[in-house]
Amino acid sequence: MANNHHYQNHGQNGLKQPEVVVVTVPFPAQGHLNQLLQLSRLITSYNIPVHYVSSTTHSLQAKIRVHGWNPLAAENIHFHDFTVPPFVSPPPNPNSTTKFPTHLQPSFYASLSLREPVAALLRALSSNARRVIVIHDSLMASVVQDVASIRNAESYTFHSVSAFALYLYMWEAMGKPFDIKAEITPKDLPSVESCFTAEFLNFIAFQYQFSKLNSGKLYNSCRSIEAPYIDSLGKEIFGASKKHWAIGPLNPVAIHENKYRHKCLEWLDKHASNSVIYVSFGTTTALTDEQIKELAIGLEKSEQNFIWVLRDADKGDVFEGEARRAELPKGYEERVEGRGMVVRDWAPQLEILGHRSTGGFMSHCGWNSCMESITMGVPIAAWPMHSDQPRNSLLVTKVLKLGLVVKEWAKRDKVVTSFAVENAVRRLMASEEGDDMRKRASELGGTVQRSMDKGGVSRMELDSFIAHVTR
Ligand SMILES: *[C@@H]1O[C@H](CO)[C@@H](O)[C@H](O)[C@H]1NC(C)=O
Repeated sequence: MANNHHYQNHGQNGLKQPEVVVVTVPFPAQGHLNQLLQLSRLITSYNIPVHYVSSTTHSLQAKIRVHGWNPLAAENIHFHDFTVPPFVSPPPNPNSTTKFPTHLQPSFYASLSLREPVAALLRALSSNARRVIVIHDSLMASVVQDVASIRNAESYTFHSVSAFALYLYMWEAMGKPFDIKAEITPKDLPSVESCFTAEFLNFIAFQYQFSKLNSGKLYNSCRSIEAPYIDSLGKEIFGASKKHWAIGPLNPVAIHENKYRHKCLEWLDKHASNSVIYVSFGTTTALTDEQIKELAIGLEKSEQNFIWVLRDADKGDVFEGEARRAELPKGYEERVEGRGMVVRDWAPQLEILGHRSTGGFMSHCGWNSCMESITMGVPIAAWPMHSDQPRNSLLVTKVLKLGLVVKEWAKRDKVVTSFAVENAVRRLMASEEGDDMRKRASELGGTVQRSMDKGGVSRMELDSFIAHVTR
């Protein structure tokens, strides 16, 4: 938008004061931190200042890991790095029976103490601005509860999971109040068992107590991907009392050439189009030694090209201590040299997915990863680990038909054998069935990219949200 549309002159001293300011409050886990940082970037493109609030360590984590743009050069994003009480930051336990990252729980509790500094920030901003708009992760509702006592502030809940997963959770939590629409809901939903810990479910329930305070809801989704579920959330699930906007994808939809390129991108340059499978399971999962060995052998035996990001799960404080360095079979990296690359550091996932050589993604199906893969038109080999991932995996494979399942949720306690890995990789990368999935993924990717163009479905919803908050 041109010039200072959202600023007004307050006379007297002639200083221009912001009309509307936005405060974003992410939940302190990578997929969540990233989504609200990306949304902050989109909002500043409307010439509205954004205040991104987190603990010092999580704010730094979000900034150094972002891809596709530089948050430090974004003039209109103000980072508020607040101190939270010290929390323990144990390593993940790869041998745990559940893959839910229980080791992050202390950092989740510590972040709830952001309530006081956030309230102080909101009060300070509210005395200068016409309106203060708070956008908070659905898991941080308690932190922004003081919005209720500030005359010119209002809050919006940001949901970082798929509309599909949210629609199903809410329907179950409400006691299945209506017959689920068979035509949009696959049979045999994956069990919610092992998706969360009881402790985390309590945490969610506590946050949902504050949900009446919000004035509307934002989804990182796009009508081109999830229209029926977005509609149902707006009607049967949350009802017309709330406003809803589906404004995704929040990640950049095009890759801009970067001067600094990670070595894996140079490696991709040397391979043929759609010939490489990218393997990564996100930031919250640690695989067992046995599973790593089976995966390594399966990738090798598939004889397909691969980039495998082999990292341990994040700790609550990612800057604290050393991470476990998983062992590969002896001589492995030499044997697969040229055909397979193992990456141990932070990988530029969006750029990898956007590279022409990448033709498949073996993924845990975290929603951030799903949206990035769908945007870049890459089909998925689904290996869900916890939380919304089993349902995202169902959405991607059965509903959207953009991929296949490597690990069935019903067999979550079993090791995926090298044979199963080999077969899944061959099916996705070297079969007619895989080519069909790639074709569908590429078509949907194009549609999703265009949804963020001027006049596109998601861009129009974002325009509508901005028009509403600057009304
Ligand atoms: C996990 O279990 C394996 C096999 O029992 C053991 O060798 C390894 O040290 C354990 N790892 C951790 C981090 O406890």
